[in-house]
Amino acid sequence: MTADTTGTTNAAPAALALDGITVRYGTVTALDDVTLTLARGRVCGLVGTNGSGKSTLFKTVMGIVRPSAGRVTIAGAEPAAARRTASVAYVPQSESVDWDFPIVVREVVMTGRYGHQGTMRRPRPADHDAVADALDRVQMTEFANRQIGQLSGGQRKRVFVARAIAQGAPLLLLDEPFAGVDKSTEFALTAVIRSLADAGHTVLVATHDLAGLDRLCDEAALLQRRLLVHDTPAEVLRPENLARAFGVDPLAGDAATLSKREAW
Ligand SMILES: Nc1ncnc2c1ncn2[C@@H]1O[C@H](COP(=O)(O)OP(=O)(O)O)[C@@H](O)[C@H]1O
Ligand SMILES: [Mg+2]
Repeated sequence: MTADTTGTTNAAPAALALDGITVRYGTVTALDDVTLTLARGRVCGLVGTNGSGKSTLFKTVMGIVRPSAGRVTIAGAEPAAARRTASVAYVPQSESVDWDFPIVVREVVMTGRYGHQGTMRRPRPADHDAVADALDRVQMTEFANRQIGQLSGGQRKRVFVARAIAQGAPLLLLDEPFAGVDKSTEFALTAVIRSLADAGHTVLVATHDLAGLDRLCDEAALLQRRLLVHDTPAEVLRPENLARAFGVDPLAGDAATLSKREAW
């Protein structure tokens, strides 16, 4: 198999392809001509300041936001078709969930299995197995019968990642799964993401954790409305690249660059 310039192979379309995507909200251009291709089995970190368009990119892949130009394909399919076949799982930056709703962790994760169930939504043994396995992988088995409202922020993140895992989708979109979680949850989720990639899943993950980028990702994309760099984590983390994304003058000296990096 030979890779062509779009990263696709002769054998199969890319796991995810954005081709010339522009998204506008009224007069605000959130994404400007973004072209990005991910091959199967890769973890790609999506890095950029607040407002750089990361969440918009995820919503565009999900078909929640419609681009004014360009095209998205998920393993060759349009977003709507990929959603219909549960081929893409999405963990939004913040869940619009009624935390007082009386639903336990196991049931939340089971909602990831709806695409596999009939219209009666009666779980089968395979669904229960997938839920148990997903809870185990995020180390939440002991909380399976806990009301969702009684979990910490980090535990909630784990539950929503478990729901995405239970769905069994080849492509996973994780929008800032590490925001507000402690180191142990971050390490647990990093290990889960790596094991998903080892099993052939493709993961696009927005993160502000530059220190953990190399451990988490095979590649990274630096976004600032436009796609600035798509390369190895080490390349993306080069000061001159970060400077382009964060507006730091690389000639202003290391101290300024470093303090900006730390603050971020
Ligand atoms: N629903 C919306 N309506 C108007 N502007 C929006 C909306 N969502 C996002 N934006 C704007 O689009 C830009 C990108 O936002 P977003 O994709 O949320 O960035 P990020 O996730 O990187 O912080 C920002 O300027 C933001 O204010
Ligand atoms: Mg966001």
